[in-house]
Amino acid sequence: MNTVTTTIPREEIRRQLDLCRDIARLLPRGAGQPAAFVDTYGCQQNEADSERLRGYLREMGFSFTASEEEADLILINTCAIRQHAEHRVLGNVGALVHTKRRRPGQIICLCGCAMQRPGMAEEIRRSYRHVDLVFGPHALWRFPQLLLQVLEGKKRVFSVEDSPGAIAEGIPMVRQDPLKAWVSVMYGCNNFCSYCIVPYVRGRERSRRPEDILSEVESLARAGCRDITLLGQNVNSYGKDLGLGVDFADLLERVNAVPGDFRIRFMTSHPKDAGEKLFQAMARCEKAAPHIHLPVQSGCDRVLSAMNRGYTREQYLEKVRRLRELIPHIVLTSDIIVGFPGETREEFLQTLSLVEEVEYDALFTFLFSPRPGTPAAALPDPVPPEEKQRNFQQLVDAQNRISAKKHGAYVGTVQQVLVDGTSDDPDHPLTGRTPGGRLVHLSGEAGLVGRLIPVTITGSSTWALFGDPAAAETIQHNHHDQEVSQV
Ligand code: 5AD
Ligand code: SF4
Repeated sequence: MNTVTTTIPREEIRRQLDLCRDIARLLPRGAGQPAAFVDTYGCQQNEADSERLRGYLREMGFSFTASEEEADLILINTCAIRQHAEHRVLGNVGALVHTKRRRPGQIICLCGCAMQRPGMAEEIRRSYRHVDLVFGPHALWRFPQLLLQVLEGKKRVFSVEDSPGAIAEGIPMVRQDPLKAWVSVMYGCNNFCSYCIVPYVRGRERSRRPEDILSEVESLARAGCRDITLLGQNVNSYGKDLGLGVDFADLLERVNAVPGDFRIRFMTSHPKDAGEKLFQAMARCEKAAPHIHLPVQSGCDRVLSAMNRGYTREQYLEKVRRLRELIPHIVLTSDIIVGFPGETREEFLQTLSLVEEVEYDALFTFLFSPRPGTPAAALPDPVPPEEKQRNFQQLVDAQNRISAKKHGAYVGTVQQVLVDGTSDDPDHPLTGRTPGGRLVHLSGEAGLVGRLIPVTITGSSTWALFGDPAAAETIQHNHHDQEVSQV
């Protein structure tokens, strides 16, 4: 089904930027530049949103601090995916009463998915009276306007109206990492998996125009970014709403054609829409990382159908087979929900057998969490929590064994590793990622950060690989890297 995507006019965003300057004039300047503390929960989409919120804050003249105590403004970007995520946020928000008491005039803002979900804004209004501003993902582009209302009116502002959502281009960004970047390619979700709150809080699927995405990627590549992740709740739906005849596989090819020395990753692929065209494009594009996150959720057809996932166990396994045919060493990761309402022990064992069969490189396992307003939250759920917990543990144990075995197979090989950071382990002071995204702890000088170097893998654990720069080649590759990054 095609929808007409609403785009926020560029002049609207320019107006928001003008409001940033009005805010800069209003903020007290007593002890120098005002400071903002930004905290982000949840997924990469939220991280990407926070980069835009920081962009606005910078325009308002804020510097950034890692301390709530020192902040003139606190902004918490929340997640609604599981109850646990919400509880953690609310616990921290509760504690800010004391921070604000010690620092009168501090402005506390909450945004993101949890704020958009039904009932939450009311709870904040009633029980968290120290919070000044609440807005959902749909209102992100209007953050300056909303903050100005708080500052001028000295009253609390709530903006959590339901909306199918829009696309806003031109919001400035403060990126967290010069080497790795998130690039949103689409927003929202139309899948309505029966357990999931995302379609209710992030609106309908809508795609950014290819030229906007490509110009963002080009400027990242020019700035020396080495690892770019294309983001969307379901990237395989990319372009359906644009009517330009460009789908995600086409977009991947176009991003691949952008000059530069970077890897392309993407998240998340829904198995029902991931198919031959995408797999072929991945195999063809030399910049596409040999990794796919393909969340299966369950290995049982009855549960998959109750989850409204739109594929069977066999169809999923067929896609995995085809992927491995085309890209033999592809790193495969997945999400699984244990304890979906009514999931029997036998049904859980089907999930376990799928995990044993596929042998994922890594798995994100979750206990089912009922989300208000979703169909699954209303289903009878007779299975006792202890049984769910037992199943959960069994799955985690099985995956740990598989991960350790998979990581063990790297020992003795040489991997092209992007060195992306440092750590305080004296034997392995550097961290990096293999092309497939596995974490490597390695020896070497801090000057290697930002380089793509061959690394001999010398050890492994359940969670990571250990290695040393492959001596002779390192020098050669460093020269090569320098040449490339100067282009
Ligand atoms: N309960 C537990 N896990 C959930 N996820 C999404 N909604 C729920 C829920 N209600 C998991 C899914 C998804 C991942 C991001 O979070 O596995 O892929
Ligand atoms: Fe991301 Fe979903 Fe959490 Fe929103 S609710 S932050 S989309 S994981």
